[in-house]
Amino acid sequence: MDTLVEFRHITKRFPGIVANNDISLSIQKGEILAILGENGAGKSTLMSMLFGMQIPDEGDILIRGKKEHISSPLVANDLNIGMVHQHFMLVENQSITENIIMGIEPKKRYFGLFPYVDIQSSKEKVRELSKQYQLEVDPESIIEDIPVSTRQRVEILKMLYRNAEILIFDEPTAVLTPQEIESLLGIIKNLRDSGKTIILITHKLDEIKKIADRCAILCKGKMVGVFDVASTTTQEMSALMVGREVSLTLSSTEHKRGTEVLRVEGLSVETNEHIRKVDKVSFTLHRGEVLSIAGVAGNGQVEIADAIAGLLPVKEGAIFLAGKDISGCTVRERIESGVAYIPEDRQSVGLILDFPLRENLCLKQYYQDPYSNSRGVLQKQEMESLAKQLISTYDIRSGSGVNTLARSMSGGNQQKAIIAREINLQADLLIFVQPTRGLDVGAIETIHKKIDELRAQGKAILLISLELDEIMELADSILVLYNGKVQTIKQASEMTKLEVGEYMMGVHVEKA
Ligand SMILES: Nc1ncnc2c1ncn2[C@@H]1O[C@H](COP(=O)(O)OP(=O)(O)OP(=O)(O)O)[C@@H](O)[C@H]1O
Ligand SMILES: [Mg+2]
Repeated sequence: MDTLVEFRHITKRFPGIVANNDISLSIQKGEILAILGENGAGKSTLMSMLFGMQIPDEGDILIRGKKEHISSPLVANDLNIGMVHQHFMLVENQSITENIIMGIEPKKRYFGLFPYVDIQSSKEKVRELSKQYQLEVDPESIIEDIPVSTRQRVEILKMLYRNAEILIFDEPTAVLTPQEIESLLGIIKNLRDSGKTIILITHKLDEIKKIADRCAILCKGKMVGVFDVASTTTQEMSALMVGREVSLTLSSTEHKRGTEVLRVEGLSVETNEHIRKVDKVSFTLHRGEVLSIAGVAGNGQVEIADAIAGLLPVKEGAIFLAGKDISGCTVRERIESGVAYIPEDRQSVGLILDFPLRENLCLKQYYQDPYSNSRGVLQKQEMESLAKQLISTYDIRSGSGVNTLARSMSGGNQQKAIIAREINLQADLLIFVQPTRGLDVGAIETIHKKIDELRAQGKAILLISLELDEIMELADSILVLYNGKVQTIKQASEMTKLEVGEYMMGVHVEKA
């Protein structure tokens, strides 16, 4: 096989941290190479250098045997390198076609004089590509109206439109449902079979097993090695990246169901566009209980969580916290009465990206004693000591400790920061939406243990997850939501994973 990309002794430093330390790696034409490593190991950094978003401090990158200075994504484009980022980069109020052609718009002239963008022919080309690679999209849709999985197809089409031969995917499945994941893996395989070279960053070992040819493992900025996927077990992979054995089967601590914490009665919720997403949902949640809401993405789970946290108004019905109706309360009143919330979207709802970790970890308490004094002046010292404590307890890794801007942190470490802040509120009710999305196997193990501990302490936990395995692992009771309606609520022990899956697809319809 031919070597298409070669990293030679690459080093990249950020303030306070060596993100990539003397990394050498060759990528062969026509392979799927997976990159695996803990949160903050340096995976995104390494690939952002191949895509021209970062410049190495030391070392060389060779493309097709030739040393290249990839100083910007435009240079990368010219070298036929494309990337789908961990957090998508699309313009919300423009159409799919406009997003795809951005920066390389085909220009024509009326009467040979007046320049204009030839959107019509671009649309055709997008349509053709979408057919050729089975990436179904409507070239005219506006980005803000389309779901995550379609946005991702747009990102892929954007690369193909630019004739990319080397395609980099940074955690592409973290935002997808199990069905969408299957379909994406199929698409990636097709791309490889049609001659493209694929680099796939992922935390999901079973995905690597399914489609990758080789797997490069990073640990704390260093290259551990490159392994043949067929002859390496997933246990070996996780031990190599984390440096210890990881077990994802929890031995749950003994816990008793206590008094009622949350009661939701006949709750209906509409989106800001008046689309009904939750339809007369009722359930109760007790101390010492994990209630999980299962469902295919977009069936109303997130809207239930948003309504409880006060981010969406209650259209009908009521929400009681410890017996008190909170349906009309402000977000702050709810936080103060004991609601902690780990939202789905960590970047726009969970964090303020341009604030340092010190302030992000104190976002819900900054106005209270001891973080503000009686005259409302922030007490930096106090905030700092809280942040230090959370950083060490939750192993939040970053370059500059409490002063690190959230924006510069790795995706998984941003997630860990939100979880730390919310658990620290000591709330009676904790709402976890996709808590382990984007986390490495070691961090997932830690968070699962933490949820188990919180339950044993008598907290009430509402867990919303797209990962059925996670639900089966943690839940005491499971509510399955389909089209905004409750399909069933049962003890977790009364349902198999298969049955939950069937309810999720609307196969089983419970008779009233
Ligand atoms: N622009 C930046 N400025 C400062 N530090 C950065 C920047 N980008 C990355 N880092 C730091 O470099 C380290 C490696 O980050 P990187 O994003 O490459 O990790 P990762 O392996 O992709 O992790 P994850 O699995 O969580 O996405 C992290 O400690 C991060 O805080
Ligand atoms: Mg990353």
